[in-house]
Amino acid sequence: MSTSPLNSNDVKSFRVALDGVEHRVDYRPGAALLDCIIDADLDPAFQCREGHCGTCMVLKVAGEVEMRQNNFLSRHDLERGYILLCQSIPLSNDVRVDCDA
Ligand code: FES
Repeated sequence: MSTSPLNSNDVKSFRVALDGVEHRVDYRPGAALLDCIIDADLDPAFQCREGHCGTCMVLKVAGEVEMRQNNFLSRHDLERGYILLCQSIPLSNDVRVDCDA
């Protein structure tokens, strides 16, 4: 499995742990992870969808993502691996996020 950065158009799916269950979610090119998780009829926490409130903050356990915007996470949060689901675009096929962390 490659871990080198890809164009998000090459990403087919990602994994998300939510309420103790791990799901594989189809990735829709150009969409944020949050949008795909909602499309999969899962129920992650979110509010603003604009990178401001931090409600969608989750731990990235594996893979590479790019955040379009971040007006909430501190440098320390980023160093620990936290991302905003509503702003994150996957850049590798091995993205895994943990909503329970
Ligand atoms: S929902 Fe507010 S930062 Fe993502």
